[in-house]
Amino acid sequence: NYWKNFKDMEIKNMGKEEIKFGIIGAMDVEVDAIKADMEITGSKETAGMKFFEGRLKGKDVVAVQCGMGKVNAGICAQILIDIYGVTNIINTGVAGTLSKEVGIGDIVVSKDALQHDFDVSPIGFKKAEIPYTGLNAFPADEKMRKIITDGAKDIIKDVNIKEGRICSGDQFIADKAKKEAIISDFGGYCCEMEGAAIAQVCYLNKVPFVVIRAISDSADDNENTENDFNKFKDEAAKRSADIVKYVIENI
Ligand code: ADE
Repeated sequence: NYWKNFKDMEIKNMGKEEIKFGIIGAMDVEVDAIKADMEITGSKETAGMKFFEGRLKGKDVVAVQCGMGKVNAGICAQILIDIYGVTNIINTGVAGTLSKEVGIGDIVVSKDALQHDFDVSPIGFKKAEIPYTGLNAFPADEKMRKIITDGAKDIIKDVNIKEGRICSGDQFIADKAKKEAIISDFGGYCCEMEGAAIAQVCYLNKVPFVVIRAISDSADDNENTENDFNKFKDEAAKRSADIVKYVIENI
């Protein structure tokens, strides 16, 4: 029976794409924009997160809303790898800008991702370095990055797409001093709350990842930060999801 099942499995998998994407968003708008185009074949809840399995642009995908923050994001990425066997992970969503080069509506693609609130420097590690990895920023997958930089400009007209460092922390940044400190310490392009946790999990599991974020706000203390976030998050989440779909279609 074992061999029969094994053979059936082989036949079932013949000619199938081996690539399987995990797509993580923190908020419902970020994941809804992915699910809108998905052919959903099933869903299951684990750790309070609902995992939607199906097909998107001809590929196997699992889309999930992880909730906000690095712990949620890390748990979610590990579940995608261990239970769903994803081969690639994409984190999609919105972010606050850290650079004059990207404004509201623009896209940042991760060159690498770093946890700006992680600090073991008093005992000799670099700022934001995760002890024993030797790294304070985890590099994103070059193949997925290149697909975006080579072609995505064609699918979203008049949107500025920049590659750069993404800085994550368990804080919504809405303070000029905090923003400037992150910029001066790490030189990031945008701030959010999940990407670098996903990056760390992917690094430890040798799974390629990329973080795609569309800017929703200025992350400073001008009173517009909250208003801008509320005003632009839906459109920004959709733009980020469009880039995700482009990567999945063109890999
Ligand atoms: N996500 C969107 N805007 C953000 C900000 N200003 N800080 C952290 N995460 C964000």
